[in-house]
Formats: sequence, C-alpha cells, structure tokens
Amino acid sequence: MNAACEGGRMSHWFMEGCWGFCRARIMEVVSIKFSVYRNSPMYGMVNKAVEDMVVMHHGEPVWEQIKAKAGVDVDVFLSNESYSDDMTYNLVGAASEVLKVPAEQILMGFGEHWVLHTAQEGYGGLMQAAGKSLPEFLKNLPDFHSRVVMIFPKLQPPRFECTDLTDRSLKLHYISHRPGLAPFVVGLMHGLGKMFKTPVTVRQTETKDQGAVHDVFEVTWTPAPAV
Ligand code: HEM
Repeated sequence: MNAACEGGRMSHWFMEGCWGFCRARIMEVVSIKFSVYRNSPMYGMVNKAVEDMVVMHHGEPVWEQIKAKAGVDVDVFLSNESYSDDMTYNLVGAASEVLKVPAEQILMGFGEHWVLHTAQEGYGGLMQAAGKSLPEFLKNLPDFHSRVVMIFPKLQPPRFECTDLTDRSLKLHYISHRPGLAPFVVGLMHGLGKMFKTPVTVRQTETKDQGAVHDVFEVTWTPAPAV
C-alpha cells in the first residue's frame, strides 16, 4: 500500500467523505486558488517532493501522465526557484485523478513523505535541532520556519501556535493564506509520529473552509514510559 493510502487509513474521520465529494472539494479549492492567489509563489522543492513521492510509489511513467494532465511543462524542478502555487495545486488535482485517490488523501500522504523523506533526508540537522521528542518538536514548531527562511529567504510559511498543552496532547493552530492544505498538516503530524516512533492521533476541531478563523487540530500522543 502506498504512503497516501496509509495516511488515509489512519484518519477515519476523513474517510467518511466519498470520492465524488472529495473530487468536488479539490476542484473548489483549486478554483478559489485561481481566483485569489494566482501569483503566490512556492519554492520548487515542494513540486520536487511531490514528484519524488509519486515516482517512489508509482514510477516515472505515472508521474509524466500526472504532469501532462496538470499542464505542467517542467522537466526538472529547481529547489531554489519559485513556481506559482497554482502549479502545485494542479499537480495534486491531477495526481488525484490519475491515481483515483481523493486529493485530501494525496495531501496526507504527501505530509508524511515531506517529514520522513524531504525534511529528514535533506535537512536532518534542522529537524534534529527542533526537538528530541514529538511534544518537544511540536512546541518548537511555531519557530521552525524562521530557521528555514535562512535557506529560503522568500519563503511564505504558515504560522503555527500551540495551546491547551497537557503531557499527552495539545491544540495545534494552523494559520495560512493557502486554502485546502489541512490534510497536509494531518499527514505531517503522522510523519512526525513515525519519525519519533510515537503513536499519534490527529483530530481536526475547527476548519477554516467551513468558516472558522483558522484550522485547529487536537494532537494526542502516547507519553514515553518513565525511565
Ligand atoms: C527542514 C524542513 C522543512 C523545510 C525545508 C520546509 C520548507 C517549506 C517550504 C519551501 C514551503 C513552501 C512555502 C513557500 O515556498 O513559500 C513550506 C510550506 C509548508 N510547511 Fe514547511 N518546511 C519544513 C518542515 C516543515 C514541518 C516540520 C512542518 C510541520 C510539521 C511544515 C509545515 C508546512 C506547511 C503546512 C506548509 C504549507 C504552506 C502553507 O500552509 O502556507 N514544514 N515549507
């Protein structure tokens, strides 16, 4: 089973939606994107990571099919170059159609891939410096991208805030000008859970797409046994 499917299996709340509904949602998100954020740029490392995930699980010919469906005519994505957000949204939409997997599931799988491969393999030092355990990492997450900005100065990162901290849970506030990426955050949390070998559950408690000020997730983990 590929990473995207694993992410979906772990989040039952999400799986309630049927395929048609999910497809309609991503098209809605894509059209919001087109009308509002047409010129917003994103670093090429993101598209490169999408490519890496697809090729790893489905092979090069499927990636070429996805690029063609998305109308993307780029042979090699350059990590430090800026590409429009539209391109990334179109690639996710096309991957959803070609692989016949809801776009939200693609985004969740991508979140896991981002942590376990893109970040850990490419920026291990940054990841290690951010915490020795899942709760420590999450508490440091609000400052994380301020270090990434040193590598990518034009970064337009999201904002994270942590509230309601206990020894086994916290509320993660995700504040972003980019719509529709909440499933990506769910996948990121599952990726971090795997990275720290700490079972984690993620429940979205507030949803920006449904009128909330921003997305909020309740993240719960199993505390490490006392030594
Ligand atoms: C060293 C590791 C990381 C690097 C190099 C990195 C870099 C980036 C880059 C380049 C973008 C695209 C935005 C842009 O180009 O302006 C991005 C977006 C994002 N990153 Fe990170 N990131 C890292 C780790 C993380 C982690 C650990 C999380 C959360 C657990 C995270 C959450 C996000 C989210 C949710 C977005 C979507 C953008 C948005 O919501 O506006 N990233 N990051």
